[in-house]
Amino acid sequence: MLQPLPTALSQDHLCDLDQQKFIDDFNRRPFKIGHQLNDHPLFALESLIALSKDLPADRVEYNAGNLPVSQDPTSTPKNGLSVEETIQRIQQCQSWLVLKNVELNNEYGDLLDQCLDQVKPLAALVSEGMTHKQGFIFISSPGSVTPFHIDPENNFLLQIRGTKKVWMFGQNDREVLPETQVEDFFSGAHRNMQFEERFRERGQQFDLSPGEGLHFPVVAPHYVENGPEVSVSFSITFQTQDSSDRQTLHRFNRHLRRIGLTPSNVGERPGRDNAKLTMLRTLRKVKNIVRRPADA
Ligand SMILES: [Fe+2]
Repeated sequence: MLQPLPTALSQDHLCDLDQQKFIDDFNRRPFKIGHQLNDHPLFALESLIALSKDLPADRVEYNAGNLPVSQDPTSTPKNGLSVEETIQRIQQCQSWLVLKNVELNNEYGDLLDQCLDQVKPLAALVSEGMTHKQGFIFISSPGSVTPFHIDPENNFLLQIRGTKKVWMFGQNDREVLPETQVEDFFSGAHRNMQFEERFRERGQQFDLSPGEGLHFPVVAPHYVENGPEVSVSFSITFQTQDSSDRQTLHRFNRHLRRIGLTPSNVGERPGRDNAKLTMLRTLRKVKNIVRRPADA
């Protein structure tokens, strides 16, 4: 049974956000925020065990946590424990665990909404729309590593317990992240990437402690190293119209490449991007009209 939300935390102010930071950097560059979730009972290990039992089994992913930064996703080692054992023994069991789509549980869904309700008006200063709201909770052992990878969402990672070092690279740095790799990712390829030591000088390192959060722009490559304590983090993610359009363009460019064309990279020629989006929206509308059954 989950514990009730304390009155002090049931107010609107869960995150400390800076309007100018959003205008300058949202979905362009990483930036830190503050939050008030450190002592929230939904992040106690007993609550997280209850949540892991409530979520569908395919929404819980875990493995050994002593991985290299460059990890082949086809050979990620298991830890030999159940989900409950993994969370109970997280201090010692050298593991990494993520609870995905925690919004499927009403209490965690409400908390995600409360946080994102604060983010929404500021994100809207840069890009309209907030869709596909999803929450992820990461529970990891001291010293564990999240390998180098990219993610498809606008993300704020809120550090609840323990510390992390995040290495982050530019979403448009094509030395680190080739355009074709982004296209493959949005067409179903695995998120993990090979890290090359020459990348390091192109990245930024962020130290995260409880009460701090970090914005991850869409597909900004990153890897994460835990500090010497158990770590619990809450990732609040969403799409905007811009990020959805970007996915559409990357997928479309992949099709164009497969038929032998050389499309302009996404963002390089905004006029061409807009023309592609307009054409794809028109095609979708025509398809819907053709498919619509005739009126009786
Ligand atoms: Fe990530």
